[in-house]
Amino acid sequence: MSILEVKNLNMGFYIDEKFYPVLKDINFNLKYQKIHAIVGESGSGKTLSCMSILKLLPSNSQITNGEIIYKNKDLLKLNEKEIKKYRGREIALIPQDPMTSLDPLYTIFDQLYEVIDIHYKMTRNDAKEFIIDTLKKVNIINPEERLNNYPHQLSGGMKQRIIIACALLGKAKIIIADEPTTALDVTIQAQIMQLLLKLKNENNVSIIFITHDLALVSQYCDEVSVMYNGQIVENANAYDIFDSPKHPYTKALIESIPTITGNKRIETIYGNVPSIYDKIDGCPFHLRCKYCFHTCKKINPNFKKVDNHIVRCHLYSNLDV
Ligand SMILES: Nc1ncnc2c1ncn2[C@@H]1O[C@H](COP(=O)(O)OP(=O)(O)OP(=O)(O)O)[C@@H](O)[C@H]1O
Ligand SMILES: [Mg+2]
Repeated sequence: MSILEVKNLNMGFYIDEKFYPVLKDINFNLKYQKIHAIVGESGSGKTLSCMSILKLLPSNSQITNGEIIYKNKDLLKLNEKEIKKYRGREIALIPQDPMTSLDPLYTIFDQLYEVIDIHYKMTRNDAKEFIIDTLKKVNIINPEERLNNYPHQLSGGMKQRIIIACALLGKAKIIIADEPTTALDVTIQAQIMQLLLKLKNENNVSIIFITHDLALVSQYCDEVSVMYNGQIVENANAYDIFDSPKHPYTKALIESIPTITGNKRIETIYGNVPSIYDKIDGCPFHLRCKYCFHTCKKINPNFKKVDNHIVRCHLYSNLDV
């Protein structure tokens, strides 16, 4: 069962009065109580895909097509006042850099109380117990003492936990976590991942998890969308992605995961992700693809169902041009 459906999402930027498409026909379904990974190299459009869901896009951007269905409503049709009711309450965002969500001028208590004040009628005194309980749920030690701290007094991992606490206080049904662990060391990273897993299992939260890190995906995620140059090139469940990747880009990403024993030679993917200014004919990955043949240079492949995967690649499209 899906809780959120992203359908044919297209967006781009106006730069010097010229329109540059960035996201092209993004389609994926977030299943209820699952962790859905969005993976891909830097610049592939992961953040913009997720920011589109909450309409938190830069002012020079435009969504040109698509629907984002949540509770039978198309979120893209909502105006600013209406979508505000969803942000934080229904769908919460955990950004890569927690300082962008925490205000350095306010104490942790003030910031968490603000969430409560928006959503519940509760005095500061009554809210205190509630907040302390929530901080315990996100494994903050000595929560009473932390309430009077300012963000700069907390470690990176603790700040991420405070933001996750905000999502819990707002009773979010969906959490969008945009590389929430990239800035953290490996032990803290594992703790934050465990915490997300706990929210999924105990609080019925569904999670979109953006990452570069395929090792984390294999360990924690249920579904995977692989992005390249503003397109999803492969969608499948995590088991199938790692067991039998279909798209050459997915294969290359998996081959570039370092192994613990280090006895496998790490393959790197030749070349760079194109920028939004590059106009590429055919499949955007063909310039880096070791399976590229003539059709790939001319036609951008459409989606095709192959086994349990949805994949955009001519190797499976039986086209001969
Ligand atoms: N405000 C903007 N104006 C113009 N182009 C932008 C803007 N924001 C992002 N882009 C471009 O859109 C593309 C997708 O950006 P996005 O931030 O979604 O990538 P990403 O996959 O999240 O990358 P990263 O892994 O580095 O966070 C990139 O090429 C980026 O340069
Ligand atoms: Mg990003």
